[in-house]
Parts: sequence; C-alpha cells; structure tokens
Amino acid sequence: YEIYLHGMTGAVPRLPTDLTRLEELTAQRLGPGPVGYVAGSAGTGSTADANRAALDRRRIVPRMLRDVHERDLSVEVLSRALPAPLALAPVGVLSIMHPDAEPAAARAAATQGVPYILSSASSTPMEQVAEAMGDGERWFQLYWAKDREVTRSFLNRAKAAGYTALFVTLDTPLLAWRPRDLDQAYLPFLHGVGTANYFTDPAFRAGLAKPVHEDPDAAVMHFVGMFADPAKTWPDLAFLRENWDGPIVLKGILHPDDALRAAEAGVDGVVVSNHGGRQVAGSVAAADALPRVVEAAADRLTVLFDSGIRTGDDIFKALALGAKSVLVGRPYAYGLGLDGQAGVEHVIRCLLAEFDLTLALSGHSRPGTLTADDLIKESA
Ligand code: FNR
Repeated sequence: YEIYLHGMTGAVPRLPTDLTRLEELTAQRLGPGPVGYVAGSAGTGSTADANRAALDRRRIVPRMLRDVHERDLSVEVLSRALPAPLALAPVGVLSIMHPDAEPAAARAAATQGVPYILSSASSTPMEQVAEAMGDGERWFQLYWAKDREVTRSFLNRAKAAGYTALFVTLDTPLLAWRPRDLDQAYLPFLHGVGTANYFTDPAFRAGLAKPVHEDPDAAVMHFVGMFADPAKTWPDLAFLRENWDGPIVLKGILHPDDALRAAEAGVDGVVVSNHGGRQVAGSVAAADALPRVVEAAADRLTVLFDSGIRTGDDIFKALALGAKSVLVGRPYAYGLGLDGQAGVEHVIRCLLAEFDLTLALSGHSRPGTLTADDLIKESA
C-alpha cells in the first residue's frame, strides 16, 4: 500500500510498476545500443517469446478462505535462509547500462536482502563488487575458461571475496547467433572494461606478452580465445569440485538426463534456464522444461529457474512447477539503466510485492505450499 499512500500526496513512482514497460523506456531514454544489448536474443527471438508464452499458458487456480493474513516469503536455498525466492541473475558488462554498473546492482540486492550473482564478464572486478555489498549474500557465476590456471585463480579470488556459491554457466560454450549484436558488429565483451575480472587477474595477465595497458587489443583477443571452452565434457566437473568447497550450481540445464548427470557429478543444484532466449534459437521454453528437470532431480538437487520472469505471478508459477527460487535478468538491467541503484531496488520491490499479493490472493501464506495443483495449463 506504500505506493497508494504516497499517491495521496501526489507522489507517483519514478519507474512504471509494470516491469514489461521498462524495455520501451530504456529504448527511449538510452537509445539502441544499451537496449539492444539487453533485449537481444538468439535468432528471431523465438526462444525469448516462447519463454513468456510458456509462463502465460500456465494459469493460477486461486483458493479461497484459507487465512492468508500473515505471510512469510522466506525460503531456504543452498542451505542459506533467504527472505524471498528471488536472486539477481548474472548479467555481464553492466557499464553499458549505467556508469555505476555492477556495484550499484549489487548494493540494491544487498539492501533488499536478495542474493546477487556476479557475472564472470562483469565490468567491475569481483573484489570491488564484494566491497560494495558489505555482508549481502553474493554468488559468483563462472564462464569456464579454457585455461585451468585462470579458472583456479577466479575460484580463489571469489572465495577470498566472500562469494559463497558457484554458478557454472554451461549454455555458452560459444556466443550464439544474436542478430541485434551482429548487425551493430557489437561484441559486448569488447566494450571498454567489460572484461575487468580477467584484466585484473594475475593468471590471465601471466598469459599476455605485454601488459594490458600497452597492448589492450592483444589482451582482448586473448580473452576472446579463452573465456569459454566448447571442448568441455561432464568429467571435467571434477576439477571444479576439487577447487571449490561451497555449493556448485549448473546454469542452463533443460534436459532431465542432464539433471541426472548433474546429480551424479555431485553438484548441489541446477538453474533451468535457456539464458533468457539468448543462446539456442528455437529452444524449448524454460518453463516447459522445468517440470521434467524437477522430477529427475527428485530431492538430490536444488532446482532454480530463470528466463522470462517479469511479474510476481511468474514467480508463483515457477515455484508451483517445482523451482525453489527464481532469478531475474533483463528487468533489473533496465532498472539499472534507467535509475541506477534505485532502479534495481524498484524492480526487486515490485516483483516481491506482486508475488506476496499473488500468493495471498491465491490462498497461500508461504512459498513452500505451492504445487502443480495450483496451476492449470492451457493448450498452446
Ligand atoms: C545475460 N545472462 C548471462 N548469464 C550468465 O551466466 N553470465 C552472463 O554474463 C550473462 N550475461 C547476460 C547479459 C544480458 C544483457 C542478459 C539479458 C542476460 C543470462 C542471465 O543470467 C539470465 O539467464 C537471463 O537473463 C534470464 O532471462 P530474463 O530474466 O532476462 O528473461
């Protein structure tokens, strides 16, 4: 009711409360570069569209007279008590959206008690982001480099800077065919300091013939050649397990057999995700993949979800389909672009307020009681 009460004094929110409008506002205020980077998807955008359609096809079946006057949104994820089932997804190179970049997004997450997952490809070194967050919950996303020493160095740095969980993104062994980036001949990682985690890394620097500042082009080429590795296979995960003590979560799982392999490999969780539709054009929608992965994971893996979450009812649906928590990507990147840290806080607060209301209006007091029985699926 905070927004309505402020409205009595004539104050309206600085950003729309319908987060699907943020893309258009970003296009108007920041222009085609930043909005293209964030909105861009693989191919014709069919996967990103399918993500939304799959969530829309699921409809909530509200229940009545179930005493919802007191509610508790908290969940336990990867052995951490979290105030709500939401985390900020790793989004690289946020300096494209706002000069305050990752530290602003991370601070917003910390003020709202939501975990922040820092991208390997962040425009700010991971130590600086950690400092900006104080004791806020932070997780580190790894693009699994070809070079073992660089990977080991990243893991050691992340550990030392207080990142508690490792998210290993598996769906990006190569960058996909993304027409909006291709048409602008735009490789986000080449944007300024988009590779700060690498350029500040001692193991990465050891592989350069000259220091970064003397030959920045060579440093960028070195980065492009090693940031991902299409030759990796399941047994390679043992290396990460040996070098990381905390929870490991595999991001980008869509097939139930891959969930089984993840469990066999001894990791702690998976994110059912198609990278927001940015990798495989024509891919299964993430929400359509979720139930089968949840079933395969049984109680052996924590299953998280992203790709297409825009509203509180989307969060409700993902949880009813079996996810423990969701991640959100584009909406907060737009929020950052439009209003810095305050814009990201706005996005988090809108999502959680709407989720809380959806929960109550559907007859639930906490996330743990949601099941597939709370949804019906309309035919496509
Ligand atoms: C991403 N995503 C991503 N994922 C990752 O593991 N590392 C990264 O560096 C990035 N970078 C990135 C940049 C941009 C601009 C976007 C939009 C996305 C994917 C991200 O973590 C997440 O999976 C999706 O954004 C989720 O879909 P929605 O919420 O954007 O629909």
